[in-house]
Order: sequence, then structure tokens, then C-alpha cells
Amino acid sequence: MTAARSMDGPRVAIVTGASRGIGRAIALRLAADGHSIVLVARSKDAIETLAAEIGSGGGIAEACACDLADDAAVDSLVEGVVERHGRLDILVNNAGITRDGLILRMSDEDFDLVLGTNLRAVFRLCRAAARPMMRGRWGRMINIGSVVGLMGNAGQCNYAAAKAGLIGLTRSIGKELGGKGVTANVVAPGFIETDMTEALPEQLVQEAVKQLPLRRMGRPEEIADAVAFLASDRGSYITGHVLAVDGGMLS
Ligand code: NAI
Repeated sequence: MTAARSMDGPRVAIVTGASRGIGRAIALRLAADGHSIVLVARSKDAIETLAAEIGSGGGIAEACACDLADDAAVDSLVEGVVERHGRLDILVNNAGITRDGLILRMSDEDFDLVLGTNLRAVFRLCRAAARPMMRGRWGRMINIGSVVGLMGNAGQCNYAAAKAGLIGLTRSIGKELGGKGVTANVVAPGFIETDMTEALPEQLVQEAVKQLPLRRMGRPEEIADAVAFLASDRGSYITGHVLAVDGGMLS
């Protein structure tokens, strides 16, 4: 395992929604790249197991339970990381939820819940992370959007609004913090094999996959590769970008 910053120890990365799916793959990949990972999820069980798995492979990870719907918990998350590690270099806002329904039947609660987790919590974490990253004059904010944020999707007006909002949020942060060595980008997955897509009707998934130039769903590791690149020094001249990792869906 190679140290990401050989001069003064590994870089510290927060990955939200790390208990499964794309977040888990991102955490494993960043740990393999030598970063010290703060794994965030609502409950500790799965992330404690993942922290142990990373540790036994020679990496560094800690589990941090935090419900992103809880403003106070979100604020103290970054504060705690900076207190314990003295720095924060990489923030991957991956946690996300869906509450699908056609607009005619979409409740205020389902709209607010999805906006709260997928957009407001991301704003709060980016705001909290800005100061420590600026202080270090190096930072990477990577927000996991969706192709749905660019295309819209019937039955997902709440989710699409949140993911589209994420693009405006990220591009604005990129403009505000670029001069301080902090980049901000969106990775927008297409159809990826996780619990989130497991819940979709099989026939709908098969039809959608047939339309894709690459004719298959993506793997969480393929999203993790894109995130790892943007989080590295190799991604140093990229900011305000939306990188679709979608098997060609948007092409
Ligand atoms: P998933 O449903 O498998 O995992 C979501 C993760 O977010 C879980 O770890 C869950 O515990 C966490 N989470 C949800 N609400 C939370 C809260 N209030 N506080 C703390 N943690 C919370 O989802 P998946 O598929 O791995 O998706 C990850 C990201 O990728 C999401 O932002 C999703 O919108 C996005 N995405 C996924 C696609 C797919 O095809 N799977 C396609 C496009 C985007």
C-alpha cells in the first residue's frame, strides 16, 4: 500500500454511505490508494466490519455513525474528523436515497426527505469541509450525482431535482475554492448493480440495459475508479466537471 502523501502521512478522506454499494467500493479503493478513510453510515454495524476488513488488508479506516438527516450530527462529523486527524483532504458525498412516485402523487414529505439527504446534507458537509481543506491548501470534494440529474426521469422528480441541484452546488464550490487548491466535481453514475437498482422491476432494467452502448450495468468498482482518479493528484486540473460513468447512456 502506498502512502498518498509521503511527506506528512496519508490523506484523510470522508466517504458517506460507505456501508454498501458504491460507497463501500469507493472506501475500499481510496484505502487501497493509501488514504485514511472515515466511513460514514447511519448505523455502525456494516461500517465497523468494513473498517476491520480495510485494517486487516493493511489500510486505515474508522467507522463513524451519522444520520445525514440530522443537522447537528452532520456538523459535528467534520469537526470530529479534524479534531482526531488534524486535517480533512477528501470528501466523497455518496449517500443517497430514493422515494419514487409520479409528481401527481408525490408528497411533500417524500420531496423534502430526498432533497434533505441528497442535497442539503451535501451542502452542509461541503460547507464544513471547506475551511480545513482551504487551510491545507489542498482538497477534493467529489459529489455522487446521477445521470437522472441531467436527463430527468419519470417518477423521480424529487431525486432528479436533488441530483441536478448537486451540479449547481458543486460547480459553484469549484469556482469559490479553486484559488485555494480545492477542486469540486460530480461523478454521475448510470445503471449500477447495487441494492438501489435491485429494487427496480427486472424487466425495466433489462430494457434499459439493451439501450446502452456498453449493453450491461456498471459495477460499483467502476464508479470508485473515477472517484479515485479525481481524488488523486492526477485529477489536479479538473474542477466543476460532471463525469458521467454510465456505459454511454448520455452519449
Ligand atoms: P445504496 O442504497 O446501495 O446505498 C446508499 C448508502 O447511503 C447506504 O450506505 C446508506 O446507509 C446511506 N444513507 C442513506 N441515507 C443516509 C442517511 N440519512 N445518513 C447516512 N447514510 C445514509 O445506494 P447506491 O446504489 O450505492 O448509491 C450510492 C450513490 O450513488 C447515491 O447517491 C445514488 O443516488 C447514486 N447513484 C446510484 C446509481 C445506481 O444505479 N445504483 C445510479 C446513479 C446514482
